[in-house]
Amino acid sequence: MKKDVFVQHRPEWKSRIGFLLAAIGSAVGLGNIWRFPYLCYKNGGGAFLIPYFIALLVVGIPIMVLEIGLGHKMRGAAPASFASVSKKWEWLGWWPVLLAMFGILLYYSVVVSWCVNYFFYAFNSSWTDSPNTFFYQKFLMLSEGGPFDLGNLRTPILFALLAVWIANWLIVFVGVQKGLERANKIFMPLLLILTAIIAIWSTQLPGAAKGIAVYLTPQFERLTDIEVWMDAFSQIFFSLSLGFGVMLAYASYLPRKSQIVKDAFTISIFNCMFSVFAGFGVFSVLGYMSNSTGKPISEVVKESIGLAFIVYPKAISSLPAFSREFGLIFFGILVIAGLSSAISILEAFASAVIDKFHYSRKIVVSVLSVLGFLGGIIFTTRAGLYWLDIADHFITHYGIIIAAIFECIVIGWVFKAEKLREHINHYSTWKLKKWWWDVSVKIIAPVVLTGILTSSLLEEISKPYGDYSRLATIVIGRDWLIFTLFFAIIVAVHEWKVEPKDRILTH
Ligand code: TRP
Repeated sequence: MKKDVFVQHRPEWKSRIGFLLAAIGSAVGLGNIWRFPYLCYKNGGGAFLIPYFIALLVVGIPIMVLEIGLGHKMRGAAPASFASVSKKWEWLGWWPVLLAMFGILLYYSVVVSWCVNYFFYAFNSSWTDSPNTFFYQKFLMLSEGGPFDLGNLRTPILFALLAVWIANWLIVFVGVQKGLERANKIFMPLLLILTAIIAIWSTQLPGAAKGIAVYLTPQFERLTDIEVWMDAFSQIFFSLSLGFGVMLAYASYLPRKSQIVKDAFTISIFNCMFSVFAGFGVFSVLGYMSNSTGKPISEVVKESIGLAFIVYPKAISSLPAFSREFGLIFFGILVIAGLSSAISILEAFASAVIDKFHYSRKIVVSVLSVLGFLGGIIFTTRAGLYWLDIADHFITHYGIIIAAIFECIVIGWVFKAEKLREHINHYSTWKLKKWWWDVSVKIIAPVVLTGILTSSLLEEISKPYGDYSRLATIVIGRDWLIFTLFFAIIVAVHEWKVEPKDRILTH
């Protein structure tokens, strides 16, 4: 195939807002709702916003610019982009998308299917007055024997997972404009409206002010704790969906004339404002809980799964009025936020395969959806939560961080940051400055990420993760990383049909 033909056939976003909404859809996920507010509370309240916004400016936005700029220039998903730098580095494009597709997406979809179940439970507060027992014993039926005591499949989760995969499949199957763009144009405004409703509603509850005070009252002395800073940097990185090859794939569908820098700022800032905003809702509800139970906030506060499936259900049941509606909106928000992130991972992997092997989108997406569903089944067993916990810990703490360090070094030093900066500045009205961008990509980001990685490793050595057996953390954690890396190398040595370099955008 001649190169022009191929490049011309690349799908494109219909509008700039379509791209922005899709990228925001990927970034705004469960982490914004169930992790950020908790981190803020734990790490000095309002004072945490200082390291958080510093992390945004010195690492988050620069890497966002890098990923969008690289995708725009190379007109390909992660593998094609890195292969265009040098064939030697192609594996670096495959590894994170493989980890995301056959790691994160498998369990992320399962978590979304829990939310789907809870959406229906919200109709009549099925969790009764003991959400804790309900979640672990009745819903998950968590096995007692640890990760390898799989027990049977949990059919309510399995069926919901099937539904989630049908949704993933449908949206990505029909393509960039008709699928991803259209879905996010519905999802994102809806997400915003529902979040606004529930946040404003929550602040009216008795005790809300107390909750918000705990969320935001600054404790500046906490800023001397190095862990606060590490939490800020890793949260920014995870929250912006960086290092997974997602932004690269999305940016590869940008038209030639694009505002790379402005768009990177818009996506990143919007994502962080959403987090801060969601925190008002979360802490108002926690304040209300503490008010109605008479317990201090520190006893009712929880993060992630504990917040969504235990504390919130409890709060919902105790609301004076409209508790059903509140529950439906809350779990609806989680489903939408999760789904718009899930489809971005599927797209990042599908586009990588299409770039290299030129199979049709419909076939690639269908095969991947079947594999994704089948692969998710292990997380629907009675040991599912253990598997999810271990896989997530290793992939997000090690896999993605290692890949991201390499990403910065390869683009910053091998490809050369100045070369990419020159490309980006050619198209953007907001120009990148060398002292900010090059320095961040070449030095600050890799140094900070290496610091985070080292500290996780040291902690791992002194105290292995969780209460799991050594075998479990090795097989489900470490081996998952090694296996995907191995696979990435195998796919990377395979020949290209059209040289990846032929697609590069020059001006
Ligand atoms: N940003 C998402 C959140 O805050 C989670 C996430 C991280 C993600 N990396 C991703 C989602 C890649 C989709 C794709 O919850």
